Amino acid sequence: MPAVSFQEVAKTYTGPRGRFQALSGVSFDIEQGEFFGLLGPNGAGKTTLISILAGLTRASAGRVTVMGHDVREDYAAARKALGIVPQELVFDPFFSVRETLRIQSGYFGVRNNDAWIDELLENLGLADKAQANMRQLSGGMKRRVLVAQALVHRPPVIVLDEPTAGVDVELRQTLWAFIARLNRAGHTVLLTTHYLEEAEALCHRIGMLKQGRLVALDRTAELLRGMASTMLRFKTDHALPAALEPQARVTGRIVQLKAHDATEVEQLLAALRSAQVPIEDLEIGRADLEDVFLEIMQGGALAEASA
Ligand SMILES: Nc1ncnc2c1ncn2[C@@H]1O[C@H](COP(=O)(O)OP(=O)(O)OP(=O)(O)O)[C@@H](O)[C@H]1O
Ligand SMILES: [Mg+2]
Repeated sequence: MPAVSFQEVAKTYTGPRGRFQALSGVSFDIEQGEFFGLLGPNGAGKTTLISILAGLTRASAGRVTVMGHDVREDYAAARKALGIVPQELVFDPFFSVRETLRIQSGYFGVRNNDAWIDELLENLGLADKAQANMRQLSGGMKRRVLVAQALVHRPPVIVLDEPTAGVDVELRQTLWAFIARLNRAGHTVLLTTHYLEEAEALCHRIGMLKQGRLVALDRTAELLRGMASTMLRFKTDHALPAALEPQARVTGRIVQLKAHDATEVEQLLAALRSAQVPIEDLEIGRADLEDVFLEIMQGGALAEASA
């Protein structure tokens, strides 16, 4: 039995300005114990898919199960198997951190949960804020409480929708160490993030959504292998030769160019030299998940091959 199964899931939102198809025919399974990454640009449908999984939004078509429980027909059992860290910060400002976690435990019928609550607070760097009211916390701290809240009932499946947005480096590392530990202990993890280096480091397998469709689904290592293996990176203040423009990824002064092998590296450098483009800090490195992501989202050859 997979931990999560999406079968031909579609979602159409109907609003004052007509209908909008947010998801079309999305099908994939997440196996028990997997650390799965769901990636896609803003508006691709990630949160919509998670809302359907959580039973907060109804799919227009298709079927979703969590640990074998249908999210509609068997809502309570499906919901209990899930711990969801939502993308939006929502909470009651009048309760303290500890009260918030006790109330959430009660909601799932878990009694005498203080030992686990203390462990969560400790692991998420919230031990000294246990008595603070939610409204007294900073944004990053509120997000930590959301993570603790999702985990109070020790759910087998943990869903994190952009858990590290606005979170400082130190907490990110503590959070990932903690989530990785839970994953090693057998919890299934579904993560969405725009930090692709996090996804590359953590996820066994990755699915990519583009305009509501699943356009890639593979093991992280396979996605990286499928990519042109070498990237040329350098800095320049000059415009690139027109011939190189279409294949360049430019971020401020940093330019990245794809090369399949050493001959192509030489050709690229020769093209830059003959166009008299001065370059600094030249590096030759391997393609990373961000390169794969951009290639797939721009509808490159890889997207067709793996869709
Ligand atoms: N309640 C709603 N009514 C109408 N349209 C909606 C609603 N919720 C989401 N959408 C639309 O559905 C599409 C997918 O949104 P969704 O929030 O799932 O994207 P996302 O992949 O989570 O993006 P992000 O990376 O920005 O979080 C967007 O175009 C969004 O405007
Ligand atoms: Mg979202």
